[in-house]
Amino acid sequence: MDKYIIEGLNPLNGEIKVGGAKNAALPIIAASLLADSQVVLEDIPKLRDVTNLCSIIEDMGAKVKRDQNRIEIDSSTVSKTEADHDLARKLRASYYILGVMLARSGHARTTLPGGCNIGNRPIDLHLKGFRALGAEVNLDHGVVDVKADQLKGAEIYLDYPSVGATINIMIAASRAEGKTVIENAAREPEIVDLANFLTVMGANIKGVGTDIIKIEGVDEMHGVEHRIIPDRIEAGTYMIASAITGGDVFVRNVLTEHVKPLIAKMHEMGISVEEDIAGVRVKAGNKLKAVDVKTLPYPGFPTDMQSQMMALLTQADETSLIIETVRENRFMHVDELKRMGAEIKIDGHSALIKPGRLTGAEVRATDLRAGAALILAGLAAEGKTEVKDIYHVERGYENIEERLRGVGASINKVSE
Ligand code: UD1
Repeated sequence: MDKYIIEGLNPLNGEIKVGGAKNAALPIIAASLLADSQVVLEDIPKLRDVTNLCSIIEDMGAKVKRDQNRIEIDSSTVSKTEADHDLARKLRASYYILGVMLARSGHARTTLPGGCNIGNRPIDLHLKGFRALGAEVNLDHGVVDVKADQLKGAEIYLDYPSVGATINIMIAASRAEGKTVIENAAREPEIVDLANFLTVMGANIKGVGTDIIKIEGVDEMHGVEHRIIPDRIEAGTYMIASAITGGDVFVRNVLTEHVKPLIAKMHEMGISVEEDIAGVRVKAGNKLKAVDVKTLPYPGFPTDMQSQMMALLTQADETSLIIETVRENRFMHVDELKRMGAEIKIDGHSALIKPGRLTGAEVRATDLRAGAALILAGLAAEGKTEVKDIYHVERGYENIEERLRGVGASINKVSE
């Protein structure tokens, strides 16, 4: 098992380039199966989730050619409508196969998805959407089976603006007969990227980025070339890396409007964030002000930045409050941060973070973003931090240790 060894207290300096967004790349790779000719995708991050999803579609018959951050997908040879269960269990985004194959072939089958262990992550809203579009949905021993002779457009109100459900319904509806309206839709930038991709392929989608999305089904979609948007969570993680070490880092390849909620909080904390067309420069003074943060669906503060923000708030001048409203069980990093000397009190969905010095310790990445938070804490801690179970981190960050070393961090990956 690999682990990271970090020696803290080196201020970071220089430039880090962010890669393509994992959570846009995954649905876009899946949706490539709707094209009748080759799809070429650029800025696909080299991550385990991407490799696993590619293996799923290859197993279903697609031809996938990967070269660094570029992928060519030819799905004309896809014959299976079922995702391999062992592979599907490895990533949550395997559920996009349901919407895609339902749209393409009128049938899809997969096991319930895996991914991070961060609380109850049902897919009832996805299934409600498929049913509304006229599909028959069966759930048996953790296997989902959906089928429809002909999907039909419908009005669908989401009880919660779920990212995954909005994407799955949008994909399925893009080939349904007639018009679909998704109300209380999620507005995340990754959904907008997918909609742009589908539109260039021939889909007819309006209102994406707002909470009402309208889709007029089409019969055909063709192959296209598409570049994935930059990863706003990876960007945010490196912005915090600069701030938590009192550094001065230019984070390149950031769409600044996607990281506004974080920039706003950084300004409140007294951190200098200069926005540029190519990215953001983050420079922290020696005093960080305490702030309160509440996670919300986009454009609110992202739950995927909550644990990294908590690491940063341990270095503030007074007590801060974080309220997590999006996910249950998303405070698993707290016990690990406490091993490093952090003083944090949890009460239900709230965490009170007291200021204090961090010291190096042996800690475990309990999920992807928790792992990122522990790396950040390690960068700010006195002495040596060992982060174990880093396979979680590698699901979402391409070469994080090399990127951080490039700006002066002392972080190495070693095999136990
Ligand atoms: C996506 C992201 C994940 C991020 C999350 C919220 C991917 C692959 N993952 O996850 O990194 O943390 O958005 O920004 O893009 N819910 C239901 N029923 C459903 C679906 C969701 O009740 O059918 C609830 C969940 O329990 C959760 C909330 O809605 O509490 C948010 O989930 P959702 O927006 O669907 O997140 P994901 O698409 O799973």
